[in-house]
Amino acid sequence: MRKKFIIGNWKMNLTLGEAQDLVFKLKNFMKGKNSTDVAVCPPYTYLLTLSNILKDSNILIGAQNMFHKEEGAFTGEISPVMLKDLNVIMVILGHSERRQIFHETDQDVNLKIKCALKFGFMPVFCVGEDFNTREKGKAEDWVKNQILEGIKDLKAEEIEKLIIAYEPIWAIGTGKICSGEDANKIIKMIRETIKLKSNDSIAQKVRILYGGSIKASNFQEHIKYPDIDGGLVGGTSLIFEEFSKVIDLASASNVHALHQSHPV
Ligand code: 13P
Repeated sequence: MRKKFIIGNWKMNLTLGEAQDLVFKLKNFMKGKNSTDVAVCPPYTYLLTLSNILKDSNILIGAQNMFHKEEGAFTGEISPVMLKDLNVIMVILGHSERRQIFHETDQDVNLKIKCALKFGFMPVFCVGEDFNTREKGKAEDWVKNQILEGIKDLKAEEIEKLIIAYEPIWAIGTGKICSGEDANKIIKMIRETIKLKSNDSIAQKVRILYGGSIKASNFQEHIKYPDIDGGLVGGTSLIFEEFSKVIDLASASNVHALHQSHPV
């Protein structure tokens, strides 16, 4: 069975003081809890301080982006070597905000995924369609193409190392949640696509998360679906009381699945 994964993407939010306060609370909350994997992805400038706080904890730390070169004249960019130095273990790549606001292409995302794998990071590879694409009934085609472009030229054993996040753009930060049924349908299709490019055993291992307006009050509806392996959480991950409830929901769904003894 795939272990559930809850990842907080803080985006460009919080002061250093607020960030420290949040991770201290999370670290305390997560003591002795190991049924769900949990990670936080703060802004770059907080990574060193926070990775030191989280060193002796079960919370992983990730970056929100990374350039695909080791060093050089790339003003404003951050390299994999720099992130390695900060004990970062994962990196979000291809987030729709990077694609839409900073014009990252599928090819850029593919280069970044390859580079992240080369340096031993766990890439959190994001895909998702916009509202018009969904309205036209093209969401599945769109997402499938993003997956195929993102994993182009990857070996099966590299595909196995990915975490994939399906985040429909129209559901991000809007309060409009994609239904559990619709999200599960796309995620199932992503798993089939992964299977085509690797094999069934790998496709069954890769964790595929949902993201977009997740709240403690609506996540139950998603996490009960067997193909949804957790959540990439934006706004809600900034509020300890809410984020911890989302983690609890994921852990409870693990227990539920075990009791049903449905090997996924
Ligand atoms: P919200 O949870 O704020 O909608 O953001 C989702 C997201 O983009 C996470 O990467």
